[in-house]
Amino acid sequence: MNDPVSNKSSDGKTHLKVLTNMTSQEVRAMAREYLMPAVFNYFSEPLVLRRGAGLHVEDADGNTYLDCFGGILTVGLGHCLPEISSAIAEQARTLGHVSTLYQHEWIARLAQAVAQKMPAGSGLKQSFFTSSGTEADEMAVMLAKNITGRHEIIALRHSYSGRGMYAVSAMGHATWRPIPPQMPGISLMPAPYCYRCPFGLSYPSCDVRCGDDIKEVLATTTTGAPAAFIAEPVLGVGGFVVPPREYFQKVIPEVKKAGGLFICDEVQTGWGRTGTHWNGIEHFGVKPDIMTFAKATASGLPMAITVTTPEIAAAFKGLTLATYGGNPISSIAALATLHIMDREDIPARSARLGSKLRAGLDALKDKHALIGDVRGMGLMQGVELVEDRKTKQPATQRANLLLNVMKRRRVLIGKGGLYGNTLRVAPPMLVEESQLDELLSHLDGALAEVAQATV
Ligand SMILES: Cc1ncc(COP(=O)(O)O)c(C=O)c1O
Repeated sequence: MNDPVSNKSSDGKTHLKVLTNMTSQEVRAMAREYLMPAVFNYFSEPLVLRRGAGLHVEDADGNTYLDCFGGILTVGLGHCLPEISSAIAEQARTLGHVSTLYQHEWIARLAQAVAQKMPAGSGLKQSFFTSSGTEADEMAVMLAKNITGRHEIIALRHSYSGRGMYAVSAMGHATWRPIPPQMPGISLMPAPYCYRCPFGLSYPSCDVRCGDDIKEVLATTTTGAPAAFIAEPVLGVGGFVVPPREYFQKVIPEVKKAGGLFICDEVQTGWGRTGTHWNGIEHFGVKPDIMTFAKATASGLPMAITVTTPEIAAAFKGLTLATYGGNPISSIAALATLHIMDREDIPARSARLGSKLRAGLDALKDKHALIGDVRGMGLMQGVELVEDRKTKQPATQRANLLLNVMKRRRVLIGKGGLYGNTLRVAPPMLVEESQLDELLSHLDGALAEVAQATV
């Protein structure tokens, strides 16, 4: 095995090599021994990555892949964009960390930039920075409890909030819920999942019955006085489930009437991902009281944001801090990311390229019976695989196989959904049209191959 530390140099000291030359097999063996097995990896032989540039990543054995999942929508623009990497490196040489006990220019500038991206008329202006989507959602829930003096939270089935105590308790997926729910006072409302409608209805004749269900949920599972309703504009881990357009317009007024707040989790949908708008919720004509962001915010550096109105922010009782929250390096990465997003008009680009991707996926659905549903917004498109379009039996094993076939074809995509049968296609948003063509052509071949396989 290679020594990760270089030989002594002229100063007589050893120095860490940034890049070592371990093979995938060597890395896997070391990871098996020292990483907790609870960490979920794609593929039975986990992929070991070593380099990234734009839409491409290279594995430790020198193979190059077209990355259409971007580290779970987190490499929002592309890997190691020179502009962002230089800003990070310069910041690392200038000032790396101070904790939130002190202030610095970059966190203030970032908070101002974030405020400018909030939905018009929402009044959302003040930010709290942390390092993960989990923490952003936990802070949002804390804020809602503080200002309302209430405790009950309504979340959606099929939702994902992360792995904190609130987040796991509100988990809408048994698979991601390793411990019994710990936090009382959480109601899980049926999801607006049209393809598998919890009420057995079809849109639009259903008149969005799932939205009306909020009245039932309030009356039967809460005291009628919730602190908040929390939802993702598009259920991400849930398999890119897009609610009907009218959904939030039915739910939110009822939540507000009951005195609750609306927490909008934009961890996956934020920063232009859904096309046309900066925020996913802007497609739905409702205004959140609190919003959370993470993933694409800082192109992969740990960064999460909870944004709210000055009034709600002021209601937080007691002291709080987040040691790493908005540290100078993460803040500069976020500012550099936003700068490029503004310059390239990422919401418009996501809308344009998202339409192309969607048209291609719809065409694949016409061709391959394995596809039961195509759904999504902008550059976040889901493809739900079923064994039979009538019974809608989830094609979970074929979805696994398909990811492997795509890997063999050197294209990376994600998967999700309660049954693990929904392909998640969400390339970095600077993807080129030709790269979408390449992805679609490989998906076409892989679907044909997987449909024939015995599983
Ligand atoms: C919608 C949503 N919220 C919260 C989280 C938690 O984020 P993190 O993994 O950064 O804690 C995720 C993670 O996938 C997410 O998709």
